[in-house]
Amino acid sequence: MSDFTHNFWSIYVAGMTLAGIIGCLLLLWFTARKKVDATTDNTTGHVWDEDLTEMNNPMPRWWMWLFVITIVFGLGYLAFYPGLGNFAGKLGWTEVKEYQEEMQKGEAEIAPVYARFASLTTEQLAGDPPAMAIGERLFMNNCAQCHGSDARGSKGFPNLTDKDWLHGGLPENISETIHNGRIGMMPPMAAAVGTADDVRNVANYVLSLSGSPHDSVRASLGKSKFVACAACHGMDGKGNQVIGAPNLTDDIWLHGWGEAAITAMVNNGKTNEMPAQASKLTEPQIRVLTAYVWGLSNRPKAAQ
Ligand code: HEC
Ligand code: HEC
Repeated sequence: MSDFTHNFWSIYVAGMTLAGIIGCLLLLWFTARKKVDATTDNTTGHVWDEDLTEMNNPMPRWWMWLFVITIVFGLGYLAFYPGLGNFAGKLGWTEVKEYQEEMQKGEAEIAPVYARFASLTTEQLAGDPPAMAIGERLFMNNCAQCHGSDARGSKGFPNLTDKDWLHGGLPENISETIHNGRIGMMPPMAAAVGTADDVRNVANYVLSLSGSPHDSVRASLGKSKFVACAACHGMDGKGNQVIGAPNLTDDIWLHGWGEAAITAMVNNGKTNEMPAQASKLTEPQIRVLTAYVWGLSNRPKAAQ
């Protein structure tokens, strides 16, 4: 339960804590016994505003007892709760246990809500307003920081509202993505393509695939170089969802478009990661999120 690497430190810290408390008690006892010097006028010698003198009287009893009570409380607290080095305290209380109990209580409270969802398919969940209200909140708390609160993504973070999928848009693909995360990895390809000029040519060929503005002479020269890319993006450039290679013909760009962006992509490659969520979310939460994400691009227009 403790992070002490060696028992010595536990004993050392416990000793210091107890010494501090006993020190307070001794100080209290000592100052309470100190006799007032009767030979003088019983003041401390401090005078303010000409005639306001500070008397040297003993501390009031009630005040002393308050002090004693705090010390007794402190010792009692240390007996029952963790605080003395490694000693766990008589009650066995830990922050982790308290957290887990609260989580269990919370989960038990919402279990009936999710129980109703268990019998619904993804399609039905996506059309169920209470489920989607929960889905939206889960998305805001767990996904929006990367994909945006409108789920439209940004550079490097895919838009989840369109029909363009890196890893597949069927409910089972989305569920798999949320559970285990995804890594999109393109190695640096410049060496396989050839010279810097070849890289510019193939970049223009890629732009031509989606009808984006490009240099058509360079594009025709780059076509033959695209074989280096075909293993992942396909001979037709339409991509491969099994390895997360994007479709290069749809004019949707995860990492920006234009000759410069694509040249950089070929020269440097890219590793892009969606972190796994299975350990952060419960199974019913992932089901609802799957339906929410699926619904973003599949919900009938009428529902919007
Ligand atoms: C830390 C940032 C981050 C968080 C948090 C995150 N994602 Fe992602 N997500 C990504 C990235 C980056 C990708 C793209 C991976 C790639 O390039 O292959 C991605 C991909 C996806 C995809 C696949 C898209 C496709 O086109 O196939 C889905 C679905 C998805 N995320 C859903 C979610 C959901 C639901 C959550 C919340 C539970 C979430 N993501 C949280 C960064 C994140
Ligand atoms: C080993 C497989 C692989 C090869 C070979 C490969 N790519 Fe990629 N490429 C990927 C993956 C995976 C991604 C997505 C990276 C991500 O998830 O961010 C990608 C992304 C891209 C993108 C970004 C697309 C966007 O939407 O922004 C471009 C452009 C691209 N590749 C062009 C090429 C070209 C040109 C070649 C050949 C010279 C090539 N790729 C070779 C796997 C590959």
